[in-house]
Formats: sequence, C-alpha cells, structure tokens
Amino acid sequence: MTARLIDGHALAATVRSDLATRAGALKARGITPALAVILVGDDAASAVYVRNKIAACEKTGIRSLHFSFAGDVDPAVVFAKIDELNRDAEVHGILVQLPLPKQFETDAVLETIAVEKDVDGFHAQNIGALAQGKPRFIPCTPYGVMKMLASINASLEGAEAVIVGRSNIVGKPMALLLLAQGCTVTICHSQTRDLAFHTRRADILIAAVGRPKMITGGMIKPGAVVIDVGINRLPDGKLCGDVDFASASEVCAAITPVPGGVGPMTIAMLLANTLEAAERLAL
Ligand code: GUN
Repeated sequence: MTARLIDGHALAATVRSDLATRAGALKARGITPALAVILVGDDAASAVYVRNKIAACEKTGIRSLHFSFAGDVDPAVVFAKIDELNRDAEVHGILVQLPLPKQFETDAVLETIAVEKDVDGFHAQNIGALAQGKPRFIPCTPYGVMKMLASINASLEGAEAVIVGRSNIVGKPMALLLLAQGCTVTICHSQTRDLAFHTRRADILIAAVGRPKMITGGMIKPGAVVIDVGINRLPDGKLCGDVDFASASEVCAAITPVPGGVGPMTIAMLLANTLEAAERLAL
C-alpha cells in the first residue's frame, strides 16, 4: 500500500465534536435541535442506515424522532406525518429514508418536506439552489466527500474530476459541487462507452455505482485521489466498495476505505445540516 488513507471515522468524529459544541449553545438558549427520520418498509440496509443515523444524533446532542411504517402503508399516511412534522416547531430536520416502496412517487414525497427542514437536500428547490451555486442544504454524501477532499488539501481548481454514477443522491450533486470548486467534471454511467478511458484521466475519481470492486488499479491515474462511495456486500458477508482497494491503493495518492470512509462522513454531514436548520430556524 502506497496511498494515503482518508479516515472517515476520524474526520467524522472531528465534525461531530464541533457540532456537539454548537448543539450545546442552542440548548443553552432553550432550543434542542431535532431530526425526524421516516422509514417505510423492511429493507435491511435502510434499517441499518436509519439506526446509525439515530445513534449519531444521540452522540451529538441532537434529539431524534423515529417513525416506521409497513411496506404496504397507504402513501397518504406518510404524507400526513410529513405534514405534521413540517408544522412542528420543535422539529428542525426531516429525512425520509430511500428507497421507498413502489406505491410511492419518490419526488412527490421529497417535495412535501418543508424546504427549510429538508436536511437531505433532495427537494427540487434545494437541488435548484445548489445548481445555481447558492446551496441551502448540500446532500449529505457529496457534502462529506467535499470535506474529505478538503481534509487532504486536494487541489481542485482546474483538476479533472471523474464521477462514476449519475444518481440524484450522489453523482449529480457531486458534479455540481466539484464544478463550483473549479474542476472539469465528467459524469460516467452505465452507457459510457469506454469507462477506463475516462477514469484514467481523473485527478479526482469518485466511484458511486454500487458494483463491487469494479474500478481496478489499471483504471486509475497514478497520483489520483480516489473516493469510494459504494458499499456492497460480498457473498462471504464482507463489505467492499466500488473500488478494488488492493490494486487501487498501489497506484493512487490517497483513497477512502470501505467501510470507514464515506459512510461515517455522510452521517456527520446529516447532523451538520440538522444543526444548520435548527440554527436558522432559531434566528
Ligand atoms: N438512501 C441512501 N442514501 C440516502 C441518503 O443520503 N438519504 C436518504 N434519505 N436515503 C438514502
């Protein structure tokens, strides 16, 4: 291994410690920052993510409210809950865990969340604000990635950034954030003709496709910074990323591990957005 490891656990702990101080300051003014999390259905991975988000709230002095609904729930019940939380002055952030069961129109659900409580940053208005370079809430995973790049002083101005994956949650907002920092951005996806041609040009390579170990060392430019957003479970039960860590870390300058890389930072930035929401609503 020659690459520098970007430790998501350590960086997330630093972020949380700053947030705990800010949460304490709000509490001294009689305001307890609070995040409401809605989980629909019994997707095992989603249940783990929600549990981790709630545990991180407790560690940071943020109150969490958790609402679970059966997978066949009438969407009207979930809309009514969001509406109630929108009007609750003691709730500052609202998160609906994705994916939702098929009877839901996801965009309609996300757009029911009050824009000032949309701590995931998925509401169309918040994505629009981000696209205009005036972000209100930055989606948590790309926000965490930007913090990781800043932590190693990655040089972004004029850098070639290649993102593999075009999701609304990661790929697209990631592109907007890197663009705002002066990167030349390429987004690759399942229809990209020659993926390695693009990845080999990347100074900053972001893998967010959900395919175990698909980016190998031979696809990476020597000295690149590699950020692995993927979390995949292998048949033996072990977790791995979208990047083949063993071969990639022989080539690149810095790399995030899986687990212990982007995952903890996503949660830390959710807490950051919740605190930001509480501070703004308390003004
Ligand atoms: N599912 C996978 N990632 C996320 C996320 O960042 N937020 C929500 N709400 N659901 C997700």
